[in-house]
Amino acid sequence: MTAQTLLILGASGDLTARLLLPGLGRLVDAGGVGDLTLLGSGTDDWDDGTWRDRVRESFGTVGEAAGAVADSARYLTADVTRADDLKRLLDARDGELVIFFALPPAVTAKACTALREIGLPAGTRLVLEKPFGVDEASARSLNELLGELVPEGQIHRVDHFLGKSTVLNILGLRFANRIFEPVLNNEHVESVDIVFDEDLGLESRAGYYDGAGALVDMIQSHLLQILALIAMDAPPSLDAHEFRDRKAQVLRATHLWGDDPSTATRRARYTAGQIGDRRLPSYADEPGVDAARGTETLAELVLAVDTWRWAGVPFRLRSGKALGSRRKEAVITFKPAPFVPVGLSGPDRPDRLRVLFSPDRIELDIDINGPGDPFVLDPVTLGSDFGSGELPPYGEVLRGVLDDDPTLSVRGDTAEVCWRIVEPALAAWRAGDVPLLEYPAGSTGPEDSLLPG
Ligand code: BG6
Repeated sequence: MTAQTLLILGASGDLTARLLLPGLGRLVDAGGVGDLTLLGSGTDDWDDGTWRDRVRESFGTVGEAAGAVADSARYLTADVTRADDLKRLLDARDGELVIFFALPPAVTAKACTALREIGLPAGTRLVLEKPFGVDEASARSLNELLGELVPEGQIHRVDHFLGKSTVLNILGLRFANRIFEPVLNNEHVESVDIVFDEDLGLESRAGYYDGAGALVDMIQSHLLQILALIAMDAPPSLDAHEFRDRKAQVLRATHLWGDDPSTATRRARYTAGQIGDRRLPSYADEPGVDAARGTETLAELVLAVDTWRWAGVPFRLRSGKALGSRRKEAVITFKPAPFVPVGLSGPDRPDRLRVLFSPDRIELDIDINGPGDPFVLDPVTLGSDFGSGELPPYGEVLRGVLDDDPTLSVRGDTAEVCWRIVEPALAAWRAGDVPLLEYPAGSTGPEDSLLPG
């Protein structure tokens, strides 16, 4: 494998410390990244020693290979919106170059404009973390700008959900087994819920979150990708071309249910409350929050997927913060059996297939003859834990980047389509057409929810 330099722009930031470096450390120890130079850059006036300490701290306990990468890591202070500074960074590379933009979208766009002035070494790969742009128009112009720098196959739009092993397991569950795939369609499925309820609040992230909100932070990116994996047709292979084509196709067919934001969307934010032994202030009173912005901490969308397979099946997506209990799962609810023989009685619970994200599990709710009277049905749940992935999600994502394989990365057209899907909701919310509801921290969310209780 040829030598590579991973240049992280925004090296002193939260994303680098929390996700990128821990994933990288594990990936390096798992082997297969070859000779890697880790070059960090940011506006902080750090030296190599400060950066190496940061890298070691984020790597945590690692083996020899990752230790060596940390020991040889280098840091250069730079303003990445300036061409001169960027030139200095490019000149410091060793071997092939991978540039990771761990930066807010607006700064990334400025850095790319500056890179256009100086040009990039052949083969350079660019890695951008979500959110990709701030709306469809900005995503399109960022795509155009990136397209002037390198070919699409060298652009990696990433986030950690793309590498979560439970999310990727949806592919195995659906396409490597005979029993689920034939019933995943509008003949048999009543609804699909993709829910990511968190018991965490803002966690001191107002600077980013107050400008994003739950819809952009979670649904526009992560949950739409999960929808794509659940709704896509089987690809003939998992190479970047086939896999991403299938995802793109299904997302292009996706839009707000009835194209009506007032009935197909909900937004809410938390007020003061208690979660376990934690007392949370109102979101509006959290440090750094501008209450007048009306940023939502919980969002719900009902989406339609206009294909033969899914027409008429609502996909309900929801994500919220500061809820009383965690619920992170995709639930496929089946229609009732067309006929139950006279003489069999019991609960009328629908069959459900659940893919749970942390704990990583799959469960199937069905009715069978339980103990006692054999003609009286009882609900049971068949379940199995997914083994945890070899790598943390970000390690998985970085493996693709360093292997020059964009399979897991979001393709440019798909990034734009994901904005197109949510934009009617965002526009209606901005115009005040959908009320901003409230829910106490620690509760189950707003009463007027679009999801069944
Ligand atoms: C991140 C969001 O992308 O995903 C966070 O910015 C969210 O707001 C997080 O908490 C959830 O992912 P996980 O895997 O940490 O539960």
